Amino acid sequence: MNRFSKGFLLVLEGLDGAGKTTTSNLLTTKLRQKGFKVLQTKEPGDSCIGSTLRTLVNTTKENLEPLAEYLLFAADRAQHVQEIVRPALERGEIVISDRMADSSLAYQGYGRGLCSERIALVNAWALGSIRPNLTVYLKLTTEEALMRITKRNEQRTRFEEQNAFLERVKSGFDTLFATASSTRLSVDGTKPPQEIVSIIYHHILENSGR
Ligand code: TYD
Repeated sequence: MNRFSKGFLLVLEGLDGAGKTTTSNLLTTKLRQKGFKVLQTKEPGDSCIGSTLRTLVNTTKENLEPLAEYLLFAADRAQHVQEIVRPALERGEIVISDRMADSSLAYQGYGRGLCSERIALVNAWALGSIRPNLTVYLKLTTEEALMRITKRNEQRTRFEEQNAFLERVKSGFDTLFATASSTRLSVDGTKPPQEIVSIIYHHILENSGR
């Protein structure tokens, strides 16, 4: 079986509708066919407090304070990393997470106007010693993202209600991923899903030193 000695953490980021779930599913299938052990996970939602928190932040009708909103995501992140991500990496697995720290920078930082430096500090605290080996931003215009959400017949969440908010989030992601590096990559989300998967797959192999 193919294995990374310290595991490999891949994070998929972008607006809802950007294709994170499709990419995660297709990539998981491809990697498993090649003999890798893969764990698919997501934020918010996959820790023991995640699903409760996801329902809360997505549907609350209360006027949730941006700082309170962020700290809920941070709490979920701390739990998610310790309960799910770290053990899988220690087993040498590839972990594919739908969202993580950059979502907070884009949504609560650029979107809600919270201080990015403070978010980065708390994010680092929540992650402990874990850092993504690769974060991929699936880039899409807000119009395209909203069109895809509508096509899926999905209810818009609190995060998609206001176009101006979504534009700020989108330009936040654009800024965060303006410079590509070996650990951060921006991919055109309108490309065919198999092409996106192939780009990421090769990036993983290149960066694993194989
Ligand atoms: P998600 O589960 O991806 O959305 P969906 O229910 O459509 O599958 O995430 C729910 C929302 O949470 C999403 O719109 C983005 C938002 N979010 C933040 O605002 N900050 C964060 O740190 C994270 C992880 C998510």
